[in-house]
Parts: sequence; structure tokens; C-alpha cells
Amino acid sequence: MPCPHLPEGFDATDPDLLSTRIPFPEFAQLRQTAPVWWCSQPAGITGFQDEGYWAVTRHADVKYVSTHPELFSSNLNTAVIRFNESIAQEQIDVQKLIMLNMDPPEHTRVRQIVQRGFTPRAIRNLETALRDRARAIAEEARRSAGPDGSFDFVTQVAVELPLQAIAELIGVPQEDRSRIFDWSNKMIAYDDPEYAITEEVGAEAAMELIGYAMTMAAARKECPAADIVSQLVAAEGQGNLSSDEFGLFVLLLAVAGNETTRNAISHGMHAFLTHPDQWELFKRERPATTAEEIVRWATPVVSFQRTATQDTEIGGQKIRAGDRVGIFYSSANNDPEVFTDPERFDITRDPNPHLGFGGGGPHFCLGKSLAIKEIDLIFNAIADVLPDLTLVGEPRRLRAAWLNGVKELRVRTA
Ligand code: HEM
Repeated sequence: MPCPHLPEGFDATDPDLLSTRIPFPEFAQLRQTAPVWWCSQPAGITGFQDEGYWAVTRHADVKYVSTHPELFSSNLNTAVIRFNESIAQEQIDVQKLIMLNMDPPEHTRVRQIVQRGFTPRAIRNLETALRDRARAIAEEARRSAGPDGSFDFVTQVAVELPLQAIAELIGVPQEDRSRIFDWSNKMIAYDDPEYAITEEVGAEAAMELIGYAMTMAAARKECPAADIVSQLVAAEGQGNLSSDEFGLFVLLLAVAGNETTRNAISHGMHAFLTHPDQWELFKRERPATTAEEIVRWATPVVSFQRTATQDTEIGGQKIRAGDRVGIFYSSANNDPEVFTDPERFDITRDPNPHLGFGGGGPHFCLGKSLAIKEIDLIFNAIADVLPDLTLVGEPRRLRAAWLNGVKELRVRTA
């Protein structure tokens, strides 16, 4: 195999790089020449005490790693591939308590409980409320646009529905929602200096959110209601969550379900505005395949990681026990071995075996159906209420190590 010719110091988890672009040409080279490639990192810059990780870029290999938790642990170093360099080991250890960062059998126990809240019926029950919300969000964006019809799509449209969906799912009363939204927003974006959110402010917001959720859990234990919280926490010890576990679960939802869906919506809008034929097609026919293609195109989570539990191999490459392995969903979702013309935004793409929600296996995104529903509802509302949007400026990207984030997307309505 020829060697990859990558820019000096190339690292697909470098927040400075991701603040400008997703490295698609480099991923293409790696898939062809070194699909499991050792990326050296200066000691300490990631929060982990090692010298780098294996970058896995092919669709088949990302699936392989995801579906073999006995070989590749989510717990040893968590699933987050890069923390802020100032993070303390104790803070990383706290992250290991959330389900995303657990291994079987602990993960299996918690997942079996919480997935009761995500049944098709539970998601269907949210649909009417979310449809009304989506329409109200689009109408409000039109009403509050500036005199020239322009507004920021991210803050006016993309942010709101994912937060409302989580609040709706766990039954947070309307009067408390602004506090929940404020905590959720503070917990993310700590890698971007523009937000000036320190790790302490983020950690404080996380503690407040956990505290709120634990109080909610305690109240439902005392007095169960016909809602998901009661279902998850009632009768602790009989296959239910403790109040602490419920608090951590709400924290995970606020992180996992919030910014991911927001960015899918923002990238989706940008894709439509730069591919007007697809927007016309969507407005006319509303293909049911649209939301999946938006997630493939956006791939909001660029990568997660695993840690090898023993000496093993991936696609013939030897991996040592303890090595970190980065699984690059953004690369897998553009693998021409699997997708015809992956660089084409095609809302009728079918089949679409993208890995935007993970590569299968025990951690596959719990909120996938909810996310697809939200994306579908918001674009239907936009097509009805804001069909004439045009692009005012290029998106401003978030500085982050593993998120494909957009912080501003200026658009105009006629
Ligand atoms: C477009 C939006 C979304 C994307 C791209 C996305 C992506 C992902 C990915 C890549 C994983 C990890 C899979 C793995 O490690 O194998 C994941 C896990 C998870 N997601 Fe999502 N997600 C989205 C929306 C949501 C929503 C709306 C929720 C809930 C409200 C949610 C809840 C979760 C949870 C709880 C996990 C952890 C599952 C586990 O560890 O067992 N996600 N998601």
C-alpha cells in the first residue's frame, strides 16, 4: 500500500482543524492507503496520558470496532476522543458513570431500563406536541426576522426543537424549561473561546441539571404519574434506575440529544440552500428518506473512540492492549465502497446505511427515532412556513474536537 501524504502534524481531532472544515480529502487518502493509521499526539494535549491513537476510517472497520465491545471498550478511556488539555483525571473518571461510557454487563442493565422510554409508542406520543412546536418555531423565525428578512438560522430555528423534545420526553414542566435549556447550553461548547464558558461553569451547570433531575426522580418515586420518569425510577431495585442514575441519564440526554440534532438541522438547511434542486424536490414530494440523508451528510459526531482490551487486529493492522482507537463516522459515511457518489447530497438515497448514529453494537444511538422525527418535522415546517429562504453568508463553524458544529448560519426570507 502507498503511504498517505498528509499535512505535517495532521490530526482529525484537532479543534483548530475542525473549526475550519471536515478533512474529507485526508480521510479519502487514509481509506485508500492506511485505513487504520497511527496518529501521534504530543503528550497530554487530549487529557489522556498516551502518545496518540489509531484512526479507523473505513465503513467496514468502523462497524467492526463498534460491534465488538469485548475487544474495544467504551469505558477504559470513555468514548470521547479528546478532552480539553486542562481536564483532570477525576473529571474523566466522572464521565465514566454515564451510559455512553459503560461496558457490558453494566451498560446492558442500564440500557435495558432506559430504552423503555424510547419505544416507538413513546416517540409517537410526542409527535403532535413536536409538530406544533416545529411550526411555531418556523413562524416565530419569520416574524422576528430583521427588516431585510435576515436571521440566524442556528439560534432562531435549529436550537429550539431538540431541547423541547428532550424536555417533552421526560416531562419537564413549561415553567422550568428555560433553566434546563440554559444548563444544557452551558455544558457544551467549552472548546470554543467565543462562548467564554470555562470548564467550571460547564461542570456547575451539569451539577445543577443532575440535581434538578434527581429531585424530579425523587418526587415521582413518592408519587408515581403516568410518565416516563415514573416508569424509569419507580420501585428502585427491581430493574429501575436509582435517582442518581436518573440524574446522570438526563445529563447524557442533554448532551447526546441536543447539539447533535441541532447540527444535523443546521447542516441540513445549508445543504438545501446550496443544492436548490433538492430543496425544490423536498418541497414538492417530501421524501421519507430525507432525514437519513441529512444525518449522513451532516454526520454531527465526527468521531468517538474505543480502547483495546487485549492485543488484537483491525483489518490486518495489529493493535496493542490499551491503545485508543478513533472511529471516524464522517469518513465511513463518505466511503465510496458503500455509497455511490458519496459527495452528492441526495434526499432520495436508498438504501442509506450511514453510521451517523453509530456503527451498530450496544451503544447505537438510543435517540435515533426521535432525532429522525425532529428533523422530519422541522423541515416540513420550514417548507410550509419559510419556503423561500436564501443563504446570506457561509456558516460559522464551532471549534470542537469531535463535533461537526455550526454556530451561525445567516439566512433571509423574502
Ligand atoms: C442527529 C442527531 C443524533 C446523532 C447524529 C447522534 C449520534 C449518536 C452516536 C454516534 C452515538 C454513539 C454510538 C456508539 O458509540 O456506537 C449516540 C449515542 C447515544 N445517543 Fe444519539 N445522536 C443523535 C440524537 C440523539 C437524541 C435526540 C437522543 C435522545 C434524546 C440521543 C441519545 C443518545 C444516547 C442516550 C446515546 C448513548 C447510547 C448508549 O451508550 O447505549 N441521541 N448518538
